[in-house]
Amino acid sequence: MEFLELAKRRCSVRSFTSRHIENDLLEYILEAGRVAPSACNKQPQRIIVVQQSENIEKVKKAYNTFGSQCILIICRDERVALVREFDGKCSGDLDIGIVADHMMLAAREKGIGSVMVGLFDPRILRIEFKIPDYIQPTALLILGYPKTGFSDFNRHDRERKPISKTVMMEEYIEVEEQTHTITSENEGFD
Ligand SMILES: Cc1cc2nc3c(=O)[nH]c(=O)nc-3n(C[C@H](O)[C@H](O)[C@H](O)COP(=O)(O)O)c2cc1C
Repeated sequence: MEFLELAKRRCSVRSFTSRHIENDLLEYILEAGRVAPSACNKQPQRIIVVQQSENIEKVKKAYNTFGSQCILIICRDERVALVREFDGKCSGDLDIGIVADHMMLAAREKGIGSVMVGLFDPRILRIEFKIPDYIQPTALLILGYPKTGFSDFNRHDRERKPISKTVMMEEYIEVEEQTHTITSENEGFD
């Protein structure tokens, strides 16, 4: 698959079969995350692989796991955070996003579905998985074989803004935008 086709064929999957992900495929997905770029190559990701049913039950307390048999708790180590001196912005969440996206695309290439989740309760995971204070549970990557296949390849015509709404040439141009904050209460998942 050419890259753009792979990118278009990736979609969030929120219903998984009970089939386990084969070890070699899981390793392939983790390897894709390992080679992801990060600010100053600090590699702040710390990934807990959860496959045992009693541990999946623990994740369920923090968020829906959609029947998945394999969940990655992607944390970032604050001790290796890179902070921009001009405004104090930390690049750690960007790093985690890139790692997660590498893994989602690698999974899709192998026919494995995924959904990245940010709206879980980190306090629960911190307790259940004995995660120390300086390690931030940042995202879940919920993996598995989709129960009802992958979304339509052409859906981006409907589900994504046109380039003209998000890209501007040479200068900033305001575009009409409905602004509201999405929380776990009001998130429209699709
Ligand atoms: C940073 C981030 C956080 C997300 N958090 C959640 C979440 O908490 N729950 C969920 O069901 N989906 C979550 N998603 C998935 C998005 O809802 C989804 O990617 C978006 O609606 C586009 O749909 P698609 O992935 O099928 O292309 C998240 C995605 C990203 C990139």
